[in-house]
Amino acid sequence: MASSTKLFSLTLLFLGIITLCNAQSLSLKYYSKTCPKVESIVKKETDKIMAVAPTLAAPLLRMHFHDCFVRGCDGSVLINSTTTNQAEKDGFPNLSLRGYGSIDRVKTAVEKEFPGVVSCADILALVARDATLALNPKAFWPVPLGRRDGRVSLANETLVNLPPPFFNITQLKAVFASKNLTSMDLVVLSGSHTIGTSHCSSFTNRLYNFTGRGDSDPSLDPNYAARLRTRCSPTDQTTLVEMDPGSFKTFDEDYYTLVAKRRGLFTSDSALLADDETRAYVLRQARTKGSTFLNDFAKSMVKMGKIGVITGSQGEVRRRCAFVN
Ligand code: HEM
Repeated sequence: MASSTKLFSLTLLFLGIITLCNAQSLSLKYYSKTCPKVESIVKKETDKIMAVAPTLAAPLLRMHFHDCFVRGCDGSVLINSTTTNQAEKDGFPNLSLRGYGSIDRVKTAVEKEFPGVVSCADILALVARDATLALNPKAFWPVPLGRRDGRVSLANETLVNLPPPFFNITQLKAVFASKNLTSMDLVVLSGSHTIGTSHCSSFTNRLYNFTGRGDSDPSLDPNYAARLRTRCSPTDQTTLVEMDPGSFKTFDEDYYTLVAKRRGLFTSDSALLADDETRAYVLRQARTKGSTFLNDFAKSMVKMGKIGVITGSQGEVRRRCAFVN
């Protein structure tokens, strides 16, 4: 009897330890013994990429967001489809992502020095940070590490987890809340739209026949709508438009000035004016000198980077980011 109780306690202890290992939280020092140079290798490679292709910063930042919102930040967005599985990459919201080659390039540089140690999910989180940092040396946030890579990637999980550009404020808040992110995180992270471009098709619904009477979206500045109509025909699927015209490579609080002027490109950008809290934030950032945006952004990015992470002995460290081991 005594020995079976002992065995039972030992089993519980063992299971407890396993659970603890799996529930490990991310840490800034995660690779300090196994790959102490990871941050410097990633930064060096990212800087090289940014020196020749600074427009890649935007899609790389967006890629980290798209990774985190689907199955957590587990690198699942990087996995290729196979003959039997359509992966996230091929889900509709990800068809406009680019920059996968940059992740592979950085991963290869890390693997060369420390094979099999650093996950693709961590590399993506670091590259997103360093690419943004290359646009603005004040746009820094610490990246806690220790994410493991998932083995599952399903295209049909993308549409239900990633907010489309036509979402209203209630829908946006609900998606963010489902990822444990607040309205503040929503308005702050939307500030990412200070960089990058969008396909016309993500917002032409606002320009033509919005309510079926040949009108445009009343929440969009009519002069801006007119200018956008000269760039985008109703059926345009290919043209890219700068989201923060003229400064789409500068990472700053300009986005909020645009949104405040009703020049946010997507319904989801304009929607930030339809809620007291998000509206107050937009107006504050648009008005103030010495905006708090970069600080706020850093905090929200750290939070976003922790969504649904798998750690410890869960998942794997993928050798090549596009393929499950
Ligand atoms: C709040 C909900 C959001 C919606 C509805 C949304 C939607 C979109 C859409 C439709 C595009 C343009 C895609 C295209 O047509 O090429 C885009 C671009 C972009 N998004 Fe968002 N987004 C949201 C939040 C975020 C967040 C949280 C981040 C980053 C943390 C982000 C970063 C970006 C960046 C950097 C681009 C430019 C990409 C490029 O230049 O290729 N977005 N977003």
